[in-house]
Amino acid sequence: METVRVDASKSYDILIGSGILGEVGQYARNICGGATAAVITDDIVERLYYLNVESSLINAGYRVIKFVMPNGESSKNAANYLSILDFLAESGFTRKDVVVALGGGVVGDIAGFAAATYMRGTRFIQIPTTLLAAVDSSVGGKTAIDLESGKNLAGAFFQPDFVLCDHKTLYTLDEDVFRAGCAEIIKYGIIRDKGLFELLKLPMDDKIEEIITRCVAIKRDIVNEDECDGGIRQILNFGHTAGHAIELLSRYKTPHGYAVAEGMALIARASARMGFCTADCRDEIIGMLKRYALPTETGFSSEEIYSAALSDKKSSGDKITLIIPREIGKCELRETKLGELKEIIALGLERGE
Ligand SMILES: NC(=O)c1ccc[n+]([C@@H]2O[C@H](COP(=O)([O-])OP(=O)(O)OC[C@H]3O[C@@H](n4cnc5c(N)ncnc54)[C@H](O)[C@@H]3O)[C@@H](O)[C@H]2O)c1
Ligand SMILES: [Zn+2]
Repeated sequence: METVRVDASKSYDILIGSGILGEVGQYARNICGGATAAVITDDIVERLYYLNVESSLINAGYRVIKFVMPNGESSKNAANYLSILDFLAESGFTRKDVVVALGGGVVGDIAGFAAATYMRGTRFIQIPTTLLAAVDSSVGGKTAIDLESGKNLAGAFFQPDFVLCDHKTLYTLDEDVFRAGCAEIIKYGIIRDKGLFELLKLPMDDKIEEIITRCVAIKRDIVNEDECDGGIRQILNFGHTAGHAIELLSRYKTPHGYAVAEGMALIARASARMGFCTADCRDEIIGMLKRYALPTETGFSSEEIYSAALSDKKSSGDKITLIIPREIGKCELRETKLGELKEIIALGLERGE
């Protein structure tokens, strides 16, 4: 088992191992205390993993209650958020008790936001069960729900008491959900860790624990430098300006990881054309995405992507911060005028490497 220590506004451990789900009760008892554990999960994850988690918590002396929502992004809404708060209140849950998020990023985000706001903050445990949740959404303390007018528009920064990642749970993921997580792993290699990028050229099977640990440590380091997302944390958005635009244009039919893969390929092509990185670097990025059967082309036009990118909440005034690859393992933030952004998107879509 690996442990990654996070020293943010709160210090806590991220525990990564195989078959450690049944140990959650003991860790919760030692780290969080409390009398009641409220497990928030979705219907698919409940069927697969709830009983194991429940018996572990009961054995550690908890009264266990559960809230199950339908799986999928559409559950990350205000109605479910309020239902969770009511459910906690009606169950006599106090701020000394523990909210346990068991599931992917959807469950982690909504349960985390409920934990952050119920009685101004409860104890909180993340058990990520998707690759994306393991390497990305369970790290860094961002929690959120979607509003009618857009994704992640209401939320809070709220760090958990600990994260327990049992990577054995990843074996039951659908292939496309697993691959979507791989896009974020490839991103970490490109922005910060050439060694990780090289590791991804080998079969992943027996290296999954090392890979998750490296990704989590990279995100931890970046978040440590910039917990509230004012500067360097934006580097985690490599491929995301175009990626978010593509997600939006597809009305969220294109999974996040796939849209980010298309976004990374786009910015890699544009960067090579503009001389920010070499053609080799671009080919390495695109080759790696293809190796993981991720898409590297989008059907949307540059005008469509540009307009959708402008509606994204990350643009401020007449500039946007783009993440530009310089070489594998090294990216930089680049303040970009909107006119130039348009040009970059067009360059990134031009056919022929
Ligand atoms: N907070 C953050 O920093 C952050 C970062 C990135 C993404 N996110 C959010 O994460 C969400 C996406 O997360 P996701 O990709 O994990 O999606 P998800 O939570 O919807 O999970 C994808 C699917 O996999 C199923 N599933 C989960 N674990 C499983 C398992 N072990 N075996 C079989 N099936 C399983 C789920 O039921 C669901 O159908 C988005 O809402 C996004 O906004 C948040
Ligand atoms: Zn992402």
